[in-house]
Amino acid sequence: MSTIAVVGAQWGDEGKGKVTDFLARDADIVVRYQGGNNAGHTVVADGQEFKLHLIPSGILYPEKMCLIGNGVVLDPEVFIREIDGLASRGINVDNLRISPRAHVIMPYHRKQDACDEESRGAKKIGTTGRGIGPAYADKISRTGIRMADLVDSESFKDSLKTALEAKNNLLKGVYGAEGSDFDEVYGTYSRFGERLSGFVADVSIILNEAIREGRNVLFEGAQGTLLDIDHGTYPYVTSSSPAAAGASLGSGVGPTRINKVIGVAKAYITRVGEGPFPTELNDGTGEKLRQRGHEFGTTTGRPRRCGWYDTVIARYAARINGLDYLAITKLDVMTGLERIKICTAYSYKGETLTEFPPTLKVLAGCEPVYEEMPGWTGDLTPARSFGDLPVNAQKYLNRISELSGVPVALIGVGPGREQTMVLNNLY
Ligand code: GDP
Ligand code: IMO
Ligand code: MG
Repeated sequence: MSTIAVVGAQWGDEGKGKVTDFLARDADIVVRYQGGNNAGHTVVADGQEFKLHLIPSGILYPEKMCLIGNGVVLDPEVFIREIDGLASRGINVDNLRISPRAHVIMPYHRKQDACDEESRGAKKIGTTGRGIGPAYADKISRTGIRMADLVDSESFKDSLKTALEAKNNLLKGVYGAEGSDFDEVYGTYSRFGERLSGFVADVSIILNEAIREGRNVLFEGAQGTLLDIDHGTYPYVTSSSPAAAGASLGSGVGPTRINKVIGVAKAYITRVGEGPFPTELNDGTGEKLRQRGHEFGTTTGRPRRCGWYDTVIARYAARINGLDYLAITKLDVMTGLERIKICTAYSYKGETLTEFPPTLKVLAGCEPVYEEMPGWTGDLTPARSFGDLPVNAQKYLNRISELSGVPVALIGVGPGREQTMVLNNLY
């Protein structure tokens, strides 16, 4: 029996969807534990591409159970669109369940997200605009609407009345924006509730029973460690806990029940949205990585900022998440670079920092300290074992693993499910 958390070890988009889909072959259940449709997880199986935003990346296996935990914020409209899209492609969505404790993203959350961003001006976060931050803020303020409310028309009416009054006051009074009409929102969302009621089930009970029976469970993180509300580059973060500890809180499974944590990291690093990024490449190499790696957001289509692999970040992610293994993705994208740099430390005002700093002020002033290695040529996408890789690619992997302090379990050499090599078995 194995219960494995798959977490982003960088700023998101590391390839968590691909890794989760790959590991899901041997799992019984896949559960999303935080985030919402700010996530975009791409899975390529049998040449078909699927872009998943809310649905766990185990959905392509018809017999696996896929769960959405209490820690997720769920936009019902997006969820319905996603299941209908999958069903129209012949994917079975019957084994999908949503926690009654998951909070609902309402239309006013999206409006508030836009207004908040506009009011931040030059200090905007560069959110995905999906209403994520406001939905989590309402959860913490104890004014949120949960799935259990949405599917119970009386309870929904009551909680929507209170919430909408406060939101309209904020949107109209503070932002001068348009408010929402109660009857309209109630009508549309109570229909969503009717449609979703069959999906609601106690995810914590399902998971704990399965674990007791010795089944394999995957906890699929969204975003990444540096976007974590506590451990990320605050305030340029998301509003949830992508770190491994979030898997426990966001699914209702005690931390003692999670056996392994695998951190997904690209062989380089990317970031979407604003905020400091020490190894960012604003040059031809960065552009090469962006074009060759198709580094454009799955959710918003924005170009991703690209940079060299950063082992200060990797060691930080190893510590925060208690990483057992790394899954290194997109090694194929680095083919053809003459020289490759690895960031080993930061230089800050003449001092060498080996630990990731807690403040943006320091991070923004950090210059990366690099070690250089020769690159390699040749197409890596057909490689299926470590020995198939060019010697310099092998040396690069060994070096980043050594400097990150974490062994590598999986290597990605292409987006396809089969373009994955296993160095250490996780089950
Ligand atoms: P996630 O949000 O962490 O699931 O990552 P995304 O799906 O947003 O972005 C990762 C992108 O890289 C997707 O388009 C994947 O299909 C693709 N990808 C994943 N692993 C590999 C790999 O090893 N090589 C290549 N070339 N592409 C990969
Ligand atoms: P996956 O799961 C990369 C970023 C946004 C922005 C910040 C806050 O695909 O890795 P939010 O809308 O969450 O309030 O935005 O977080 N962000 C992501 N970046 N991958 C993601 O998800 C992201 N989800 C949010 O770009 O900088
Ligand atoms: Mg993504």
